[in-house]
Amino acid sequence: MFAARSSALTQDRFFYADQPEETALLVGIELKSAPGEFSISDSLDELEQLAATAGIRVVGRTYQRIAEPNPATLIGSGKLKEIVELRAELGANVILFDEELSPRQQREIERAVNDENVKVLDRTALILDIFAKHARTREGALQVELAQYEYRLPRLTRAWTHLARQAGGGAARGGVAGVGLRGPGETQLEVDRREIGRRIAHLKRELEEVRAHRLRHRQKRRSAALAAISIVGYTNAGKSTLLNQLTALAGPEHTPAGVLAADMLFATLDPTTRRVRLPGGREVLVSDTVGFIQKLPTTLVAAFRATLEEILEADLLLHVVDITHPNALQQARTVGEVLRELGAVDKPVVTALNKIDLLPDPSAVAERLAGEFPDAVPISAATGQGLNDLLARVEAVLNRNLLPLAALIPYSEGELVSLWHTHGLIRREKHTPEGVLLEGMLPRPLYGRFEPYRRR
Ligand code: GTP
Repeated sequence: MFAARSSALTQDRFFYADQPEETALLVGIELKSAPGEFSISDSLDELEQLAATAGIRVVGRTYQRIAEPNPATLIGSGKLKEIVELRAELGANVILFDEELSPRQQREIERAVNDENVKVLDRTALILDIFAKHARTREGALQVELAQYEYRLPRLTRAWTHLARQAGGGAARGGVAGVGLRGPGETQLEVDRREIGRRIAHLKRELEEVRAHRLRHRQKRRSAALAAISIVGYTNAGKSTLLNQLTALAGPEHTPAGVLAADMLFATLDPTTRRVRLPGGREVLVSDTVGFIQKLPTTLVAAFRATLEEILEADLLLHVVDITHPNALQQARTVGEVLRELGAVDKPVVTALNKIDLLPDPSAVAERLAGEFPDAVPISAATGQGLNDLLARVEAVLNRNLLPLAALIPYSEGELVSLWHTHGLIRREKHTPEGVLLEGMLPRPLYGRFEPYRRR
């Protein structure tokens, strides 16, 4: 056990390898005044899937319809008592709430449970835990670690005091992010708080550096003036699978995306960007982004704001919807809400109605849903079906942003001709004694460079 501790200080699973399997009782609430987009049972189904992704087995679930959340215990005191008993009956060692618990609610519920071996967790802690495991890039790892500490700081109780010993071994040192979301420890509250405060400051400084570096990269990409497309969508909708397929379609000279596609929530955390060629010959940059989910913790949206900024800079959003999911529409609306929250409201959107290979009659469903979404194209990212149509639609929508131009480009400016070929559309090309006469369409950002050679 000691060897495991010292060799895997930042990895929960190893750190607590001697702990029994985690089994959870799920607890949801439904507000009578404001029932959410998702039904309580759908939301708990999703929570169960999140739990499975985090390696927790669900052994029971319960919920309460309430008028207002109780500021002290979220649910009513009678219900809390019932939950404490049900937990004991089921022998669960985790009580998992589908809502984010305030620090006070967390403390009060722990007090009511009154058992050191039982953890009280909420959806946010679970999502943070999953994110921590899936972060691959340094920036991703730093962002999650920071979000975890910020979530934890006001919630520190004796149960988390091993943090002081762990601090310093996380992402900033190149290790796996993770501050041990659910571990027992000795009582050192003040030391821990100070240590976490220091750690937060340190992580923020590191993130600044990494971000400055990424910004320089992004500017370089922007100066290449390729249109940028962000793939957005609910978690597990098929974003990574799509990016992998599009990259494969782009031809052998392109690096395969190699993005992890897995049937679990939030397999992808860090954005990956690849070049993809559209049917007309023009190249674009396509990025995968983190999956969205209902009740996405605000700490995480804030932590990932920088990564999500890529979405704000995109010329077009490619929204992937798992059309076979019973909550497809609710999921799509959630994505819309997060996009609004991020301020990405007036971007052109193309919707990929994904996973049609699983449908007996894809055209019927596609027809029914097509009205719900602008520029919707039924596809299967898995089989490649419909991808050419999707790219053609992407191209058509992007072309709405092209400006028409006719220019006579002197032979001394040969690179402008190839620039136009890669980034725009050419309707007519004629070699004359003075230079190349080009007519066609150009993306707005490039227009200025061609202006001096414009022909009326
Ligand atoms: P997050 O990382 O959670 O945001 O997920 P994602 O949107 O990137 O989804 P991903 O590409 O990882 O796919 C999720 C699951 O759906 C995987 O098991 C894929 O194999 C599966 N999947 C994706 N596209 C299709 C499809 O067109 N048809 C079928 N049958 N399965 C698909």
